[in-house]
Amino acid sequence: MTDKNITTPPAARKFFIKTYGCQMNVYDSTRMSDNLSSAGYVPTEKAEEADLILLNTCHIREKADEKLYSDLGRLRLLQEERAKNNAAAPIKIGVAGCVAQAEGEEILRRVPAVDLVIGPQTYHRLPQILSQVETGAKIVETDYATEDKFDHLPLPSAAAVRARGVSAFLTVQEGCDKFCTFCVVPYTRGAEISRPAAQIMREAEQLIAGGVKELTLLGQNVNGWHGLGADGREWDFSRLLFHMAKELPGLQRLRYTTSHPRDMTDSLIAAHRDLAVLMPYLHLPVQSGSDRILKAMNRRHKADDYRRLIEAVRRVRPDIALSGDFIVGFPGEEEQDFAETMRLAADIGYASAYSFKYSPRAGTPGAILNGQVTESAKTRRLQQLQDLLSTQQTAFLHSKIGTVTNILLEKRGRHQGQMIGRSPWLLPVAVQTGAEIGTVIKVKIAAAERNSLIADEADKTAKAVKFA
Ligand code: 5AD
Ligand code: SF4
Repeated sequence: MTDKNITTPPAARKFFIKTYGCQMNVYDSTRMSDNLSSAGYVPTEKAEEADLILLNTCHIREKADEKLYSDLGRLRLLQEERAKNNAAAPIKIGVAGCVAQAEGEEILRRVPAVDLVIGPQTYHRLPQILSQVETGAKIVETDYATEDKFDHLPLPSAAAVRARGVSAFLTVQEGCDKFCTFCVVPYTRGAEISRPAAQIMREAEQLIAGGVKELTLLGQNVNGWHGLGADGREWDFSRLLFHMAKELPGLQRLRYTTSHPRDMTDSLIAAHRDLAVLMPYLHLPVQSGSDRILKAMNRRHKADDYRRLIEAVRRVRPDIALSGDFIVGFPGEEEQDFAETMRLAADIGYASAYSFKYSPRAGTPGAILNGQVTESAKTRRLQQLQDLLSTQQTAFLHSKIGTVTNILLEKRGRHQGQMIGRSPWLLPVAVQTGAEIGTVIKVKIAAAERNSLIADEADKTAKAVKFA
């Protein structure tokens, strides 16, 4: 389909997007929003005012579809209300994201009020899809496009970039070929693709020109990125990081998430040693500490491989804040396996980590394995693990008290004169300062709260801790 088929909507139609799930979805919502804006739609913060409501869904863990259907129930009533009061401006309802991809037609069958169901690989076609929807058609688009979605998505306008704030996401890699046996991503997001470096650089330059200081490169398997380099050769992820650090002078901070241990190469570890812009934070999911369970999960690494990786990263970047993901109660997980997970978490010492009860996802190999763990065992194990992780988080926060570090000011705080900045370790920091949003200031950490730090602005002569 070409641009000629786009019909401009009659008046400025308003849209509202609700985003569930991961940062990748947050990024997708901003790109959909850019695309809608360039097609003449106007964003609104209020669902009741919108003419188009999009739910950008997540399918990774349980209850995602239940949440979607209960939200759709409420939206159906809103749609009926509008039809009664202002029949000339009906509300169109769309479902995007991974539940849309996984359920497709089923969503329309269950909730006829829905007008469009679009999978993550179709967002560049939104204006064309909507011009069909405006004529009353019901659309389900879940095919994987043959064209490059990113090439067809408009770059954000200057106003849209400003709205991103000082820290922005940039998807560099999408999909996954790893097929962990618990995970729906390879089915909902499709095969792994890496965007070419030149395309990534164009988007990064645009964001930086619009005031972005910090970029977080996103991918389901971001460190598996291997794409077309700026020199026409194939690059690996570390090469991309070195290139971005060198060629984007306005970039103050660089982060990436989420990574797989298998793709944590020596050169990527070296990037943590050599690149000052690369922040000392690493989210490296391990899922389990038991080799038996890791094998059943098809993770393709052992618990000790993970320990060695962390040691290597810490050797080059001792101040790194470590994060990870764990699943408890994967089929076949015995008490002994769970004890191994607890031992691994204790060995690593996380700054923050996420842990979940295993939830069978239809269509994944894990869902039909024997030895599903009882709900009560999952609940007990999760509680035990979360108690440990929470103690570790508190210890990490407290270990920062007294240190001098740099923070990037992101927004105003709740109190007069207070600003919220981001520490190199990703944790938010509250400080009293007259400095502007978007500047990096030196602070001394004075206290720790549950999930954040409190600091005093440090005098200019204070020495920042190494690396920060
Ligand atoms: N059940 C529970 N947790 C899951 N995750 C992914 N799939 C499942 C599942 N079926 C978790 C993993 C992953 C994170 C994004 O979500 O820990 O790293
Ligand atoms: Fe899912 Fe595993 Fe791919 Fe991560 S690496 S997206 S957990 S299949």
